[in-house]
Amino acid sequence: MYNYFTRISLFYILFLLTANVFSQKNLIINTENREHISLNGQWHYLIDPYENGFYDYRWQERNENDPEAYWNKPVITDPSQRREHQYKNAPTLKVPGDWNSQDSIFTYYEGTVWYQRNFDLPEISEDKHYYLYFGAVNYEAHVYLNGKKLGSHKGGFTPFDFEIPKEILKKNDNFLVVKVDNKRHPEEIPTVNTDWWNYGGITRDVKLLVLPENFISQYSLQLDKDQDILKAISSKKFTVNGYLKLNNSAAGEVSLEIPELNFRKKLHPEADSVHFSFQLKNLKLWSPENPKLYKVKLKLDDSVLEDKIGFRKIETSGDDILLNGKKIFLRGISIHEEIPQESRRANSKADAEQLFGWAQQLNANMVRLAHYPHNEYMTRTADSLGMLVWSEIPVYWTIDFKNEEVLKKAKKQLKEMIIRDRNKASVIIWSVGNETPVSPSRTAFMKELIETGKEMDGSRLMAAALEVNYNEGVNYIDDPLGKYTDIIAVNEYLGWYGGLPDAAQSAKWKTAYDKPLFFSETGAGAKAGFHADKRTRWSEEYQQWYFEETIDMMKRMPDNYTGMSPWILADFRSPRRNHPVYQEGWNRKGLISNEGEKKLAFYILQEYYKEMEEKYDK
Ligand code: GCU
Repeated sequence: MYNYFTRISLFYILFLLTANVFSQKNLIINTENREHISLNGQWHYLIDPYENGFYDYRWQERNENDPEAYWNKPVITDPSQRREHQYKNAPTLKVPGDWNSQDSIFTYYEGTVWYQRNFDLPEISEDKHYYLYFGAVNYEAHVYLNGKKLGSHKGGFTPFDFEIPKEILKKNDNFLVVKVDNKRHPEEIPTVNTDWWNYGGITRDVKLLVLPENFISQYSLQLDKDQDILKAISSKKFTVNGYLKLNNSAAGEVSLEIPELNFRKKLHPEADSVHFSFQLKNLKLWSPENPKLYKVKLKLDDSVLEDKIGFRKIETSGDDILLNGKKIFLRGISIHEEIPQESRRANSKADAEQLFGWAQQLNANMVRLAHYPHNEYMTRTADSLGMLVWSEIPVYWTIDFKNEEVLKKAKKQLKEMIIRDRNKASVIIWSVGNETPVSPSRTAFMKELIETGKEMDGSRLMAAALEVNYNEGVNYIDDPLGKYTDIIAVNEYLGWYGGLPDAAQSAKWKTAYDKPLFFSETGAGAKAGFHADKRTRWSEEYQQWYFEETIDMMKRMPDNYTGMSPWILADFRSPRRNHPVYQEGWNRKGLISNEGEKKLAFYILQEYYKEMEEKYDK
């Protein structure tokens, strides 16, 4: 006869298995507009490089009730008892925030840190669901509440959530513990070699979501990608395709409203999801010039979920990229998710506004958020500012392309990125990787990612930074992956990684594909404040010369040239950049220094983009 505790633990194990398996499928989006309690703030921490809180001295994972496990609250009932961990009196780290920038003991730290905080609840309602939501944790997280494991997640740049079973939730003194491990591994995404800092920690917001019995976990609203957008504009009638997913199939009628357009539609999901289409009249399309966002209301039972969504169409036509049927030129700039003046991960609205402010001063209309999905404040801010976005998963350089498990990890990160941001009009490009070395296994791997991206969201362009073949004086772009991407994007460094900037004068470019050509990187290093003649490497004059020659070369590009996103907006931290005078652990290709000073090259690109704005947006 099962006793009560056996039944509970069996139920709990089953719950954990299903929750974990479906956690991504039921990833809850638009958390900022749902009822939630912020768990941001100071969390206690224990540094645990030997993972002693997770493995016993025989390197076996500790069992759930092991008092020495760091997810269990140490309870001392007698002074003779031995406990070798506690969080009370332990130091604290700010959440959200990477640990590297918060204390010098963490600067280069790669390993496990245990985070802990308590939280209380105003009440626990039987007809509510409680979820723990993390904007991102780099790289691997194991999450425990009141000594019970809720789940684990890998991937340093995408959100995840776990439902909290009511049996383990308390009104007061909930004991929340997260094991975070940012060690690099050959079979992870990214792999062991990256040209950016391996910032570890709970790097983005943490929320306790309080959700109604029936709720909408995911949805998407997009202009039908197959409609002739010019006809729709002239007829003022637009077809919108929608999708929504509920947390349970018992939910009732959902009503969708767009008040400004006086539009409302009743939806009746069969099972737990529903696809639908409808017409909208007199829609103002989203664009950089007019980043129009509509308030959208989704009502289920007596709860209303609001969002702000823009409608626009992005497509290619031969050599051109068209936004709402009009040819555009991408005046881009690449950005790492970093606030250089404080050597830390960007993680807030204010951080996003700083980075986009710099991009706007450059006269940019597009950003390449390299090399991983940035925090959601970036894509929300891009939506409201009218900044076009290239968003990317960190399939970077020498990934283990022959490993099926690695492909699954890459697909999971791609799906999490798309689910979170497919309602962001600013995102026009999903990129599945950067500078991956050409081989049959790599191309097969990347092709699968492109197919997965298209299945999930056919309304955007699929891309990757491809490889260039240099032979007999011609830069020939015939990367086999270009057969599957919608645009031909390449990184080029003529004059920095090969030759001097005037090498660009004789450079010829050809693509094996009749598709839009986009330079996803081009750049040179300069130490801000170091001035010399232009041939002196690391001087601001050298970087200025590089941009003068590169821009002249861009002006001679074939007709399918549709823009670029030079590398990079601001100097950024990299453990690969160790020159003691010019780098000191910084990649110096920023147009802005890590102290926020604009270098001479900034103004060269700014001027070029002013010209291109007048040429295209007149
Ligand atoms: C590469 C890579 C970047 C890197 C840059 C550089 O193209 O994509 O991540 O930082 O070049 O060498 O500075």
